[in-house]
Amino acid sequence: NNSEHVSRGVLIVLEGLDRCGKTTQCGKLVSFLEGRGLPVEAWRFPDRNTDIGRMISSYLTNRSQLDDQAIHLLFSANRWEKRSLMENKLRNGTTLVVDRYSYSGVSFSAAKGLDIEWCKAPEKGLIAPDLVVYLDIMPEEAASRGGYGSERYEQLEFQRNVAHCYQILHDAAWKVIDARLPLDSIENQIQGLALESIKSCQKKPLSTLWL
Ligand code: TMP
Repeated sequence: NNSEHVSRGVLIVLEGLDRCGKTTQCGKLVSFLEGRGLPVEAWRFPDRNTDIGRMISSYLTNRSQLDDQAIHLLFSANRWEKRSLMENKLRNGTTLVVDRYSYSGVSFSAAKGLDIEWCKAPEKGLIAPDLVVYLDIMPEEAASRGGYGSERYEQLEFQRNVAHCYQILHDAAWKVIDARLPLDSIENQIQGLALESIKSCQKKPLSTLWL
């Protein structure tokens, strides 16, 4: 095993309300890090390419109905089924830029009224991100961006609740960026944060979430 000689990859997560610009910024960050010759991959949750992911996708597009608790656990299981692959990649030096993670998991379910501690419980033990970039946008502004699509959660009132729940989850790994700034300014800020994190994590072991 030569992984001890390779500095580990960094787990970078982008979070925020629907239509805050996360997906665009994830793509830009991956290209930037690739351009610097760093091993990096773009990931996203939900990962709709697994059996569990397909169940989630069918729920999100209103083709199936599930109890709030059941869908919550599926989102969580969708992260657990990827956990060991994630760990292998990180240990082998690949940085992962992930579009949504456990913070979405907890915020979107708690926004429905589920107890936040109950929502956090199945996430405990997943790999903790080294950096969480929260793209901060007013729900009204997000709604006005090209309008919401047809997926289940893309409704203003619900997104207001989600925003409130996100606020409760802030921890030391969080950096908040104003999503109303020009795209390239957001991009530059995220690049700076990512490089900083890659530098400072080289000797820091991976840690686990919420234990
Ligand atoms: P996406 O648009 O980024 O693919 O995410 C789909 C929706 O799923 C989005 O509204 C956020 C929501 N979501 C959860 O409710 N729980 C989760 O754990 C994740 C990752 C996303």
